[in-house]
Amino acid sequence: MSMSKSSAPGKVILFGEHAVVYGETAVAVAVDRRIHMDIEKRVEVTRINGLEIDPEKQPYIVDAIERVGIKEPLEIKSKSYLPSGAGMGSSAALTVSTLGCLYSLEGTPSYEKIARTAFEIEHSVQGGASPIDTSTSTHGSAVKLTRKKGSNHLWKIKKDEKRWHVHHQDIPKMKLVVGDTGIHAPTGPLVRKVRRFYDKSGFARDIISEIGELAERGCEALEEGDLESVGSLMNDNHRLLTILGVGHPKLDELVNAVSSHCYGAKLSGAGGGGIMIALTDKPRKVAEIIKERDGTPYMLEASTTGLTLE
Ligand code: PMV
Repeated sequence: MSMSKSSAPGKVILFGEHAVVYGETAVAVAVDRRIHMDIEKRVEVTRINGLEIDPEKQPYIVDAIERVGIKEPLEIKSKSYLPSGAGMGSSAALTVSTLGCLYSLEGTPSYEKIARTAFEIEHSVQGGASPIDTSTSTHGSAVKLTRKKGSNHLWKIKKDEKRWHVHHQDIPKMKLVVGDTGIHAPTGPLVRKVRRFYDKSGFARDIISEIGELAERGCEALEEGDLESVGSLMNDNHRLLTILGVGHPKLDELVNAVSSHCYGAKLSGAGGGGIMIALTDKPRKVAEIIKERDGTPYMLEASTTGLTLE
């Protein structure tokens, strides 16, 4: 094959960010905003959207090409409907969709292999990660990561001493509104900040395991379709993440401002800025409140479709 097309969704983390790095349970939902890729062989030089590829600017794509082992130049076209660097999984969707195309060109696409390689790429480019973003973007729907293997198992991912069992998670129909604070907060430094706290403080380790237990209860509430409980656990998860040191006054402001119009709200992803999410029946009202407070709202629904290959 000399040409392939793919697309992959972004995600939001419902429960368990940061704690998942230590093997605790976490759940993420794929969302209805995607990145589309189109890759073709038979060109002179590797270009992305018309410009010669630069490893500094495109580390995920360059790493993906190296790992798949394609030597010929490639014409790469990408179109993203996800804000980048905002905690909605744009780097995972980019990596997963790129790998989808590259493995298709080689004739060997496998979702498990793509999820595993995409995690390795994120881990190496960001200097540490869990497989939650990349597995959610690959599988779609919702994904639960746990230490032990359970029902609806998809794949196992290992890194050094750590291992994560990745499962499909059933979820009810949900309306989510993201509020982007616009405050740039890269994931790597926040993961390292939590690591320092975790290494020196039993208190931090207790918070991490409390987040894991809460995420387990969150999964049960999702399976029962009990949005009230899901929302209240989201509020609790927000407080625990703030105690862990990854909150921000702007995140608290947005979470508090929407609280009377939603089941629950929390920061989502690495924190320190970035995004918050609200689970609500009144997405327009919540989006309006976020806008009034200078946040950028995105009204989202869960997407059942993960990576698609053509
Ligand atoms: O920055 P995001 O939205 O990709 O989320 C990072 C989530 C962490 O748990 C903090 C790190 C990880 O890779 O799991």
